[in-house]
Amino acid sequence: MITETHSSASPTRLKSGDLRSDFDLSASELRMLLELAGEVKRQPDKWRSALRGRIASLLFEKPSLRTRMTFEVAAKQLGGDAILTVGPVGGREPVKDVARNLERWTDIIVARTFEQETVDELARAAEIPVVNALSDRYHPCQALADMLTLKEIWGGWQGHTLAFVGDGNNVAHSLMLDCSRLGVNFVCVTPQGYEPKPEIVEQAREFAMAAGAAVEVTNDAEAGLARAEAVYTDVWASMGLEHEAAERARLFAPYQVNSGLMELAQPGALFMHCLPAHREEEVTDEVMESRTSVIFQQAENRLHAQKALMLMLIDGPAR
Ligand code: CP
Ligand code: NVA
Repeated sequence: MITETHSSASPTRLKSGDLRSDFDLSASELRMLLELAGEVKRQPDKWRSALRGRIASLLFEKPSLRTRMTFEVAAKQLGGDAILTVGPVGGREPVKDVARNLERWTDIIVARTFEQETVDELARAAEIPVVNALSDRYHPCQALADMLTLKEIWGGWQGHTLAFVGDGNNVAHSLMLDCSRLGVNFVCVTPQGYEPKPEIVEQAREFAMAAGAAVEVTNDAEAGLARAEAVYTDVWASMGLEHEAAERARLFAPYQVNSGLMELAQPGALFMHCLPAHREEEVTDEVMESRTSVIFQQAENRLHAQKALMLMLIDGPAR
């Protein structure tokens, strides 16, 4: 809905106006957002009508439990609402026309798409904010929740080390971009040929240099995990790549996160996963259920981080 803005007592707006990818947040905006997410978690009642009357359009081309539920719950708990549409974005009409319809009725578009280009096109066409709820390239909302989780456990980020083990995918890209800006050393351990995109690694290295951290990519699990205080994994075949599952299962098997692999990391290292997990494939049941597994804290924090995100993208209650 394009209405007059109401910004008194509202949190600072994000300069880009969208979250197409992690790049839409500056390092200081990222810290501000995570600070706000912590506040929102501690004092949810304070924000009960912050987005009264505001409606989120949820466009999902792929399945979801966490992202869909947490955006719906977040919108409702902030005084607004959300409407879900499942299916291809732009199947019946051009993506830009979808965007220009939705902006007439609703206040934010949250899109889970196969291609990053669809998110970018929505953002180019819509005057309302557009959020990437996972594309083939990035999963910025997941990384926000993960950074909040690490802050809660570590008390801060600077100088800590996280190792991502598995496919250099959307989740790995977003984690790398957020860790590097917050001073967390990031190690990506992948089978050969499944490394993260070199141009994203290069960007993350620049961020890391500015934050006094490092980004490393390796195929050697033993070397890669040696300093890890958190071990993160994700499915071997992401949504849309199911046809590669059998081949990947063979190539990724040595990288399964099991108790032996966890022993390569620092004692007491956290186990993290964005979920959904394929138990006994990328991670064993034992590690999922272990004392240092923080997977459901990550899932809970999706809600708080996305509330903060919406508060920083939408201009307060509807008028
Ligand atoms: N982690 C995550 O995005 O989960 P969903 O696919 O269930 O949304
Ligand atoms: N990499 C996974 C993440 C799911 C939340 C996928 O894209 O399917």
